[in-house]
Amino acid sequence: MPFAVNATEPSREASELMKLDFFEGGRGMHLSPGILNKLDQLRDVIGGTRADESLLRTLTRRWGLQEHRGEIIGIKTVKYKNLHVGVLGCVACHSGKAAGQHIVGIGNKTIDPGRIGIDGVRIEKRFKSLTDTLVRTHLLKKSKTWSGLEDRSIRLMEKLADPRMSARTQGLVPVSLVGSWFYEMDQARAPDHGYIGAVKVPSWFGFEKKLEAGQFADGIGRGHPPGWIIGVEITSGQTPEQVRAYFGKVERAVSLISALTPPPYPFSIDRARADRGKAIFDRTCAKCHGNYSFQPDGKPVYEVPKFVPLEKIGTDPDRLDYVTPDFLTRVLRSPLQDLIQLSDQAGQRKYIAPRLHAIWARFPYLHNGSVPTLRDLLEKASDRPVRFSLKDAGERYRFDPVRMGLTRIEVPASVPSDRSIYDTRLHGQSNRGHEKFIDLNPQEKDEIVEYLKTL
Ligand code: HEC
Ligand code: HEC
Repeated sequence: MPFAVNATEPSREASELMKLDFFEGGRGMHLSPGILNKLDQLRDVIGGTRADESLLRTLTRRWGLQEHRGEIIGIKTVKYKNLHVGVLGCVACHSGKAAGQHIVGIGNKTIDPGRIGIDGVRIEKRFKSLTDTLVRTHLLKKSKTWSGLEDRSIRLMEKLADPRMSARTQGLVPVSLVGSWFYEMDQARAPDHGYIGAVKVPSWFGFEKKLEAGQFADGIGRGHPPGWIIGVEITSGQTPEQVRAYFGKVERAVSLISALTPPPYPFSIDRARADRGKAIFDRTCAKCHGNYSFQPDGKPVYEVPKFVPLEKIGTDPDRLDYVTPDFLTRVLRSPLQDLIQLSDQAGQRKYIAPRLHAIWARFPYLHNGSVPTLRDLLEKASDRPVRFSLKDAGERYRFDPVRMGLTRIEVPASVPSDRSIYDTRLHGQSNRGHEKFIDLNPQEKDEIVEYLKTL
């Protein structure tokens, strides 16, 4: 097995998306002004840090952010009204590593908004009390802009840490975080029903075609206008007026996203086996996942994905359960109803059967990332790993090219839980469903896996 990874240069679209954020008019996903430069003074807030490492490095690891060529991906400092504000960009979640290769347009397998919230509340509050002391002794003046940024960043961290909007495992982002905005706009408290809709960050390949089916894992959102994708920004405190003012930027982002091409499988492929796999795929899988063809220049032909009712696919229902009739009513009357609209599939309890471009890089599989390898996905749910480690999930040593996905590091029940262990027994994290194909023999399953490497 040649283990050399192609170090292809990122495309123009990928480079632009690396810089993309929707921090506008001092609002969006951000931290308090100045905090990034003073992090090491807040070290004691986080227990068990290493003396030989800056707190920023420690947090990068704890929060599951990726590093590439020595830089932390998705956090940057923006100058706003003479203040230096740490801003979170889209690629903190929407780029990640697979087999050691950094890829824009796949989800970050380790991003941990819940941990960011828990740590962030402590860090932000300590920083506020330190800077308030400086204000009292006239060593610092906080402008109204400063206080506004500070309030909103504490508020965002509190939301990220709120159990109603927070997953218990890294790699999962709850849609209830975005959902909570619709309740806020309605002066209502976010519901306590226990559904949080935690999903892995999906891939961006073929997004323009996907919009014709609908946005998100269940196609809840009407594709045009594509307002749902600014969900994390509105929940971070942007105003509807502001969103309308920059909406052109959202439309431009959609064309950049849609122009991305899937990264080729970086290791060798057995073409004869892949061809046999294609025949089985076309027979067994294509009715839901569609067919795959390529243009003369090698770019994929994207198609609109299909919907499959929950009772047919049988995967974890939590993401669909979050979409209650009450939630849909609030979406319909939100102050951004001109930009964030429902599709005719909203509330229909169906998951989209995702198109499978670059599926080799998109493990762990299913909308909730509950199945570590493709080969496991083709087995009975009861034969899939129950608890597995997500540690360094995107690094090369964690890539299994045979089963395709995460190398098997099962964690026995005696090991206490932590956020880097995916436990399929937790609510919303079940690995059940997608089981109708288990009658294929092992050789046929291997051939399908070989074929999927070509997509
Ligand atoms: C905290 C992590 C996070 C950040 C930051 C983030 N997203 Fe997402 N994004 C998600 C998740 C999770 C989903 C999937 C939600 C679902 O399917 O229920 C998603 C979905 C999407 C989709 C695909 C929707 C689909 O139908 O397949 C697009 C496009 C998108 N986001 C764009 C953006 C843009 C642009 C930004 C930056 C302004 C951004 N996102 C920031 C987590 C994030
Ligand atoms: C009855 C329709 C149907 C058939 C047939 C089907 N799938 Fe799926 N598949 C789905 C749906 C729906 C999902 C999304 C379910 C979820 O995430 O909860 C899915 C998810 C997947 C995923 C995970 C995608 C991701 O982003 O994690 C892979 C991989 C996959 N299917 C491969 C296959 C293969 C290979 C076959 C044939 C052996 C197959 N599927 C047959 C409907 C189907």
